[in-house]
Amino acid sequence: MSKTGMDLTRFILEEERKYPQATGSLSLALNTIASACKIIASHVRMAGLVDILGKAGKTNIQGEEVQKLDELSNEILIEHLSDCGEFYALASEELDEPIFPEKGKNGKYVISFDPLDGSSNIDVNVSIGTIFSIHKKVDGTVNDFLQEGYKQIAAGYVIYGSSTMLVYSTGNGVNGFTLDPSVGMFLLSHPDMKLPEKGKIYSINEANAKKWDINGLKEYIETLKDEGYTVRYIGSMVADVHRTLIKGGIFAYPSDIKNKNGKLRLLYEASPMAFLIEQAGGKATDGKQDILKIKPTDIHQRTPVFLGSKKEIDQLMEFIN
Ligand code: AHG
Ligand code: MN
Ligand code: MN
Repeated sequence: MSKTGMDLTRFILEEERKYPQATGSLSLALNTIASACKIIASHVRMAGLVDILGKAGKTNIQGEEVQKLDELSNEILIEHLSDCGEFYALASEELDEPIFPEKGKNGKYVISFDPLDGSSNIDVNVSIGTIFSIHKKVDGTVNDFLQEGYKQIAAGYVIYGSSTMLVYSTGNGVNGFTLDPSVGMFLLSHPDMKLPEKGKIYSINEANAKKWDINGLKEYIETLKDEGYTVRYIGSMVADVHRTLIKGGIFAYPSDIKNKNGKLRLLYEASPMAFLIEQAGGKATDGKQDILKIKPTDIHQRTPVFLGSKKEIDQLMEFIN
């Protein structure tokens, strides 16, 4: 029997039932993220209108302070994740330091998130998203965030695109849920997502080609062109990775002479996306090692990212090593 039509809340609870020792903490944590992102989705959908409604510049017609969507998304997530009590600490792209919610004192998890990924695309109505990564609390210090990606308890993203989708994994495969705004529920639309073994698309910002500092990368890209690949680059990691997850191929944000560690952040961009891609049968590397094996040393550290179908990643590694 097809599992589509299943809603996220029931799916999470049915997953929980598979683990007799489960306490329901992770279920509440995941449902809290979904609720917060539904609220963010409603603000994303209104973003263009706020300017129209808010003729008076920084305040909207209700006289409310019009906030940048990044800040607003960050605040919505902090409020909900703090209030649910399941998270001992929160780390965000928008916060210099982690925060330790009062209600999270007994929380078993820590969460890192990019509240709004692809900010440069907000004003041009192009897909943006939220990315999250959950680890187990270890000793209640910042070390809880500095765990390798393969130790993630769960990871996922919400893409605010032509539809709003939540895609996540707890280590048993990847499932995608599409928001039905008429009932406000995420419905299972993409059960057990798997990358194609090989794609026909490469996704990289070629404007940086002259700065790339990885021998063999240019030759690799030229070879893909010779093999008839097309290029797609949206500039929102969530959208570029979502397309790669569905259609296969490769997404890359390499290091360059100016950015020795690349641009993308390990904890709340590269690592959760690498977890999903590997769970869906693909690969994710920094050019030397699996992204999931990198031991972080700083919560905001950056890493080069190459992820996608096995064929493209294996071929890349032949060119650059
Ligand atoms: P964020 O908006 O959270 O800062 O992330 C933007 C990132 C990522 O979404 C995307 O892949 C990358 O920036 C695009 O960078 P370039 O514009 O330099 O290609
Ligand atoms: Mn981002
Ligand atoms: Mn961001």
